[in-house]
Amino acid sequence: PRVAVLAGGLSHERDVSLRSGRRVAEALRTAGVDVSVHDVDSDLVPALTQLRPDVVWPLLHGASGEDGSVRDMVQLLGLTLLGTGPRESRVAWSKPIAKTVVARAGIRTPEFVTLPQSLFRELGASRVLTAIVERLGLPLVVKPSRGGSALGVNLVSSADDLPRAMVDCFSYSDTALVERAVVGTEVAVSVVDTGSGPEALPAVEIVTDGPYDYDARYNPGRTEYFAPARLSDAAATEVASVAVAAHRALGLSRLSRTDLIVAPDGAVEFLEVNVAPGMTETSLLPQAAEAAGHNLGELYRSLVTASLA
Ligand code: DAL
Ligand code: MG
Repeated sequence: PRVAVLAGGLSHERDVSLRSGRRVAEALRTAGVDVSVHDVDSDLVPALTQLRPDVVWPLLHGASGEDGSVRDMVQLLGLTLLGTGPRESRVAWSKPIAKTVVARAGIRTPEFVTLPQSLFRELGASRVLTAIVERLGLPLVVKPSRGGSALGVNLVSSADDLPRAMVDCFSYSDTALVERAVVGTEVAVSVVDTGSGPEALPAVEIVTDGPYDYDARYNPGRTEYFAPARLSDAAATEVASVAVAAHRALGLSRLSRTDLIVAPDGAVEFLEVNVAPGMTETSLLPQAAEAAGHNLGELYRSLVTASLA
């Protein structure tokens, strides 16, 4: 099959996407797949129209890639999309909406509030922040309600740090998600579906000195990963089942990655899901696939083939 990989785009995660796209294209080529890589610019529609690839794989992180807009365009062109459809992408891309959907499916997720920047301005920072701390306590995590690669995400342990965290967050998104911070083991569970239904890959455990921020994610050696995660058998089974349940509840297709915290008492808390998980050399899905004994090229080719079925 001929595959068009979409990489780059205009989001804050452009560089990450270019790296993901390059890695996936290389792996697919080793498995004998004919691949072209396309950036998202004004040439994209004419290029796809002329090329008519069998499958389009959007490896676009952040807005446009994960908010469904480019996926909409692929479908409008009558091309086959690898992965989650536009509508489901839009839902998953909003952290508060995704949390609400999975909570309804019986999955635990930290208590949260959402805060539009306009309300923050209207009511005044101090009033709003006091109300949030009263409601959720400390520590808190402040995140852009739509975003990726931990950009604009801050852990807030003291109320004094909250204003700065809000300002950082609002530079990425006009709505903040403020959630209760859960202490525990941070794991990511990737789900792949090569035609026989969604299956969890081994959980990958993330261990960092400081926050698992942009630098810790993409500079090799900055973060220690355990693949598979150092979890009890019971906990490993539980995180796998939560990730598959989240994938199903959100109507995702072919691949996703769910980020979770395992609390010391074994409770599993959903943080977020990614419809275009990072595929760079330091990213989690490729590490999980290799831990499961997959050859990346073969696995990616199976995802392509399954999308054509
Ligand atoms: N948003 C980045 C690419 C990830 O989730 O891996
Ligand atoms: Mg994410």
